[in-house]
Amino acid sequence: MRQSRAPQTFRVKSFGCQMNVYDGERMAELLADRGMRAAPEGEDADLVVLNTCHIREKAVEKVYSDIGRLVKAGGETPPMIAVAGCVAQAEGEEIMARAPGVGLVVGPQAYHRLPEMIARAAKGERAADTDMPADAKFAALPSRRRSGPSAFLTVQEGCDKFCTYCVVPYTRGAEISRGFSGLLREAEILVEAGAREITLLGQNVNAWTDGARGLDGLIKAIAKLPGLQRIRYTTSHPNDVTEGLIRAHAEEPKLMPFLHLPVQSGSNRVLRAMNRSHTADGYLRLLDRFREARPDIALSGDFIVGFPGETNAEFADTLRLVDAVGYAQAFSFKYSPRPGTPAAAMDSQVPREVMDERLQRLQAAINRDQLAFNKASVDRHCDVLVERRGKKPGQWLGKSPWLQSVFFEGEATIGDMAAVELVEAGPNSLHGRLRETVAA
Ligand code: 5AD
Ligand code: SF4
Repeated sequence: MRQSRAPQTFRVKSFGCQMNVYDGERMAELLADRGMRAAPEGEDADLVVLNTCHIREKAVEKVYSDIGRLVKAGGETPPMIAVAGCVAQAEGEEIMARAPGVGLVVGPQAYHRLPEMIARAAKGERAADTDMPADAKFAALPSRRRSGPSAFLTVQEGCDKFCTYCVVPYTRGAEISRGFSGLLREAEILVEAGAREITLLGQNVNAWTDGARGLDGLIKAIAKLPGLQRIRYTTSHPNDVTEGLIRAHAEEPKLMPFLHLPVQSGSNRVLRAMNRSHTADGYLRLLDRFREARPDIALSGDFIVGFPGETNAEFADTLRLVDAVGYAQAFSFKYSPRPGTPAAAMDSQVPREVMDERLQRLQAAINRDQLAFNKASVDRHCDVLVERRGKKPGQWLGKSPWLQSVFFEGEATIGDMAAVELVEAGPNSLHGRLRETVAA
């Protein structure tokens, strides 16, 4: 069995949100720092880290099927399996009991201890670490070394909002902000390592604070780094939006014209039952203020359909809100009861067929608006940050300031800022004509 000796190669598989992607990168850096090698694509790894998501039921089912698949495929020599992320936090003990193939379980606030746990697991000592120490993790991690043109930087973790459907306050803990100077340093290192764009991440990123400084202050400080060209942030909560953040969209040219602001529902009764503490109107007024500051801002949101007790009329309110906003993109989900959350115990859970039908209608409305937004961009001239090669030879793929995927043909390389004219729009991407590239 491979478990009986220390693993030499690893693979980190991240599910769920961008914060998990960031955590996955940091785990990979940590393991590489301790002398392990990332297993090349297509090769089995001695250690597989499943960096899991607990937000919806389907995400959890995936973890157990992945564990089963890894154990089966490994035959006589299964890899060491580490379960990290939010499922680890929420169900650590249960995983250990249910899945004997799992060597260790480590929560999202404890993964800096991964190397020690791997060493113990290699000796046959299975362990779970789901401690939630504040900020200890970041200080214990090795510093960043390499970066693609677009990098993530977690600035805030956890959530104090307790929306009644959501597990995040339980799996990621209370809201904490990382300190300003450490973040500035990490941003600097990312830029030195090749990042041209940084996306600041947090469950409630706009609740970030250090002393008197809020997220707008952090954005403006990071914007001063020469070489950094674009800043984004996600995910924001309507109740933590400040005047300063709205103004930053007017004042800071490196801050991209894009806002992901989840609303979840267009019905005030449902919003109250969700404990969202904002109304549909209040949300629309907030968006107006962002639009005033930055008229071309692209808007994105999250929606849940079929929250317990949601009526047809209440769902129609959500469709109306979508019509009123005209999203550039949005995510929508069927409500999924999560163990331990207040909504899971509510009466009148909505039948599955009703949820299916509502989700289809909502997604059709969102797709319609996304296509309209993309079509309205045709003839615009904009910069595209080149992130990778396209499928066809000579083709490149990158993002517009409004986070649209843009492909174009011509002389360029990864990390370039390409000036393009948008000439054709589809629902999920646009075609650009190259005018000029500025080398990275
Ligand atoms: N069921 C369905 N969707 C959920 N989300 C969070 N919890 C649930 C749940 N229990 C969605 C919300 C949130 C996004 C990250 O996931 O829309 O904004
Ligand atoms: Fe979950 Fe609500 Fe916190 Fe977002 S704000 S992470 S939906 S509890």
